[in-house]
Order: sequence, then structure tokens, then C-alpha cells
Amino acid sequence: MSDKMILQYLKKAQMTHELNQNELTALLSDTTIDDTLAAAADQVRLKYVGNSIHLRGLIEFSNICRQNCMYCGLRRDNPHIERYRLTPSEIVKLAEKARRYGYKTVVLQSGEDMYFSANILAEIIKQIKKMDMAVTLSIGERSYEEYELLKKAGADRYLLRIETTSKKLYEALDPAMSFNNRKSCLFNLRKLGYEVGTGCLVGLPGQTIESLAQDILFFKQLDADMIGIGPLIPNQDTPLAKAAKGDFTLTRRMVSLIRLLLPEANIPATTAMETLKTDARIIILQSGANVVMPNVTEGDYRRKYALYPGKICVADTPAQCRSCIGGKIKSIGRYVAADKGFRQHQPRLT
Ligand code: SAM
Ligand code: SF4
Ligand code: FES
Repeated sequence: MSDKMILQYLKKAQMTHELNQNELTALLSDTTIDDTLAAAADQVRLKYVGNSIHLRGLIEFSNICRQNCMYCGLRRDNPHIERYRLTPSEIVKLAEKARRYGYKTVVLQSGEDMYFSANILAEIIKQIKKMDMAVTLSIGERSYEEYELLKKAGADRYLLRIETTSKKLYEALDPAMSFNNRKSCLFNLRKLGYEVGTGCLVGLPGQTIESLAQDILFFKQLDADMIGIGPLIPNQDTPLAKAAKGDFTLTRRMVSLIRLLLPEANIPATTAMETLKTDARIIILQSGANVVMPNVTEGDYRRKYALYPGKICVADTPAQCRSCIGGKIKSIGRYVAADKGFRQHQPRLT
């Protein structure tokens, strides 16, 4: 592909926020434009979502999972992980602490742990909503009725990565899970009025650049409010132990292109990026992202929530993470948002 064509595609993305599959594939494949692409995405980020960064406090409340995803340390068949489950009152107490650290949102994340029925979760959500915080759930696949009950209890957002839009790859890597069901979950969440977050893993064995381009087009089709992109970090206790790590620059290119195509979206600089490279979150925040999800889980539970090795902050406290991330944000001339950080539907004047 000539340099002229690549720059034309970039310009088109900046102006129209539209690209087709071939144009996306060309930009994702070009290893010479990373910084130009990131700078373009950074400008679009400034225009649409401004200089503020939204912090979402992450509570990893159970590492018990009924699923068996080939890449994930929480998978059912991993005998090496020490399982834990926080009680509802421990979860509410962590949310209270998160509010004291200044977080306006908590993200309740877990494996697919069916101990947490929709009724139990609804009670937890109601308690947290009394503290005037936004609640994001990331607990996997549930029925329409369960999602409805959780929404009525006050849940605001839901994160459910599609992981990959290649049905074949999805079903090979998430045994016994159905790609169509995952898609329906996302459209059900949309119908129920959640802010919907999705995303994909970069570097899955067998994944192609065309498939990643397709992932971006899917995020557009869903009109996703949040999009989290993370590199695969192989876990020694999973069938993907010997897989290669996801590539940092390709993951960065994905983030930048997503900002260009979905300018209003909330895009996190994900924790897994930082496992690949020191200060990766800061680089990603300057390549199109505007959200960080610092961990507010306490003590040894952080280590036990072992999706992949080399997870950052396992020995740090929630207070250390809050002050660390605040400092990093300040160092790049940005600031922590004072609001709950719902998606804005109009470009901001800067
Ligand atoms: N169980 C829920 C689900 O799967 O949607 C939420 C928790 S799950 C641990 C959150 C995300 O972790 C998944 O969507 C997946 O993309 C990511 N993840 C799992 N294993 C990973 C690995 N080895 N490297 C990077 N990310 C991983
Ligand atoms: Fe369970 Fe989610 Fe891990 Fe899959 S990615 S094994 S559903 S925790
Ligand atoms: Fe946890 Fe930096 S974000 S110590």
C-alpha cells in the first residue's frame, strides 16, 4: 500500500469517522504510522471527550467461574488458582472505600459465579446506588430477565467483551460458549438501556488483521459506549500457555483507530497493556484513550484474581493506586473528571 493511500485513509477517518474493512486492514497493517495515527486519535479524543480522564474503581469480587475460556486463569478447569468469593457486605464496604478515594464509578467484576444470583446482585447494587455512584457490571453472560432485574436495581453500565468477532475462533477459544449468544447478550443490554461496553483481545492464536478490522466495524454496528482492548497475556495454567503475547503496537493501533471511528466512546487504557510495557497506560491515554480502571480490591485477593501473569499493582493498596494514577494523569497535562463519565453525545467545544 502506498504512503499516499495510507495518509488518505487516515484523513478520511479523521474527517468522516468512517472506514471500510479494507481501509481499516491497511491502517492496522502499517507499522510506520503508529505515532501519526496516535496523534490523530489524540486530537479527536480532545475534540469529542476533552482532557478529563474518568477513573472507574475496579472490584474483583469473585474468581469462581463456570466457563472454561482457553486464555483465562479463572477458567473452571484451572486447579492451580486459589478461589475466593467476597461477601455482599464486603463488596459494599469496598464500594464505600472507593467513594472515599474519589471514584464516581465502581466496576463489579467476576468470573461467571452463579452464587451471585440476580437477586443477590440487585441488593448489592441498591446499596451502592445509595452512595450516589455509577455501577458498572462485568459478570459475563446472563439471561435477558436477569439483566433487566439488575438494570431495575440501578446498574448503569455493563462490560462484556465480544473477545473476537470471528465466530470460529470465538467458539474454539471459549468452549461450550456460543458466539451468537454473546452477541445477543450485548444487544439485550443495549435494548435494556445500559451503557454498553465491549472490546476484544489482541493476539489470539489464529486471529488475523482482517478479523481485528471486523471487530472495529462490530463496535460501530453496536454503537458501543465503551470499548476495552487488551493484548493477550498467556497464562501458564491455561491451554494457551505457549501462545505469544499480544503485540503492544498493534493493540495501540487498535485503540487509535477505535477513537477515530467511534469518537464519543469511553476507551480505557487497560491494565493488561501495562504488563507488556512500563507506562503503557500513559502512552495509550495519549493515543486515543480517556478512561483508567484502577484496582480497589484489597489484600491478597488482587493476586488471586489471576487472569494472566505479571498483573500490575498486586502488592499495592487501593490508596497507592489512586495516588499513583492521579500523578501519572497530572504528568501528561490531563485531569481526573469530577463527573460520573457517562457517554456524551455531542462534540465538546475545547
Ligand atoms: N467473566 C466475565 C467475562 O468474561 O466477560 C468478566 C471477567 S473476565 C476475567 C474479563 C476479561 O479478561 C475478559 O473479557 C478477557 O478479555 C480478559 N482476559 C482473560 N484472560 C486474559 C488473558 N490471559 N490476557 C488478557 N486478558 C484476559
Ligand atoms: Fe470466566 Fe470470564 Fe475468564 Fe471466561 S474470561 S473463564 S468467562 S472469567
Ligand atoms: Fe496501582 Fe500505579 S496504578 S500502583
